[in-house]
Amino acid sequence: MSRSFTIAVLPGDGIGPEVMDQALRVLDALASRDNLSFNYQHALVGGAAIDATGQALPPETVRCCEQADAILFGSVGGPKWEKLPPAEQPERAALLPLRKHFGLFANLRPGVCHPALASSSPIRPDLVEGGFDVLCVRELTGGLYFGQPKSRTTLPDGDIEVIDTMVYKKSEIARIGHVAFQAAMQRRKLVTSVDKANVLTNSVLWRETMIEVAAQYPEVTLQHLYVDNAAMQLIKAPRSFDVMVTENLFGDILSDEMAMIAGSLGMLASASLGKPRGDGLYFGLFEPSGGTAPDIAGKGIANPIAQILSAALLLRFSLGLEAQAKAIEDAVKAVIEAGLRTGDIDSGAAGTRRVNTREMGDAVIAALKA
Ligand SMILES: NC(=O)c1ccc[n+]([C@@H]2O[C@H](COP(=O)([O-])OP(=O)(O)OC[C@H]3O[C@@H](n4cnc5c(N)ncnc54)[C@H](O)[C@@H]3O)[C@@H](O)[C@H]2O)c1
Repeated sequence: MSRSFTIAVLPGDGIGPEVMDQALRVLDALASRDNLSFNYQHALVGGAAIDATGQALPPETVRCCEQADAILFGSVGGPKWEKLPPAEQPERAALLPLRKHFGLFANLRPGVCHPALASSSPIRPDLVEGGFDVLCVRELTGGLYFGQPKSRTTLPDGDIEVIDTMVYKKSEIARIGHVAFQAAMQRRKLVTSVDKANVLTNSVLWRETMIEVAAQYPEVTLQHLYVDNAAMQLIKAPRSFDVMVTENLFGDILSDEMAMIAGSLGMLASASLGKPRGDGLYFGLFEPSGGTAPDIAGKGIANPIAQILSAALLLRFSLGLEAQAKAIEDAVKAVIEAGLRTGDIDSGAAGTRRVNTREMGDAVIAALKA
């Protein structure tokens, strides 16, 4: 009998549905290869959900996710919905509540630059030669994005005052610290904690807590960087990082910087995880690092690899299918090494060939079956 899993599929907007199609084709190919059964429950989210129901995150979408083993998410937003008030914008009204509802506090973004793609990185070739592999661990449910009070007030003199509040509890810092150190134990055993402890009270507690957590992982080296320096070091010496751990806002910015120096947002997956379920697995939401890419949406040319690799992370963290996750990652690597390139990673190097979204999906499936 085949093992059966339920996956909530939320393609969203822009290139979301295009790249999601390829990820599902890859999962289907894997299912038939390994006698697995993936039951996809499709649901609306983001702008597509606003258009259909008036809400970016309809209650039936939340219910669909609650009944699933994990969520495979595309991306949300786009010019059509940009004029909505900030609280109703697709990202804020769909993604943030989803993360909060499921307590998805740990965002893991592997920033891998394949050696064969070093020429797609915008930084100096000698700095990325041989590729690099950084894991960014970002706290996802605290800090400035969620802290209260949050307000906008017109003052008596007509000036406008806005307030966002950065709040962290020690327990929240410690739990993300453990995620980072546990990941480092499986890697090169170096954690770089990023903060702004020379200015922010939040960061002072962050640093103290990371030092306490580090004491439980004597094999792992902990180093601290101020966020401004971290932004610089990522460009100057990306190979010097192993696991980077940081709070919500800093992680949002640094992980995009990391994605760009790795070659393209279209290559990088992410996993947003809640508490471990007890069997070592996590309920999670898995999505590409990039957005809806309105500039190329509808053209069939987006890179589906980030979405396909997000599906691999889903297999690993939520379904416990490590061998299948690795098979997808190896297939992607083989396709890159064979020279197939969507536009975002095509530097025109000799031995490469330009492909579209579906052709890239086809190639990954072929590599899986090989
Ligand atoms: N998690 C999410 O759903 C999420 C994340 C970021 C941005 N967004 C939303 O996406 C919209 C566009 O945002 P943006 O332009 O700042 O960022 P973006 O990531 O959508 O695009 C930035 C650049 O990267 C390129 N790109 C991204 N993914 C790609 C892929 N798979 N293949 C090829 N090229 C790719 C785009 O073409 C664009 O040139 C906005 O509405 C934003 O709010 C959503």
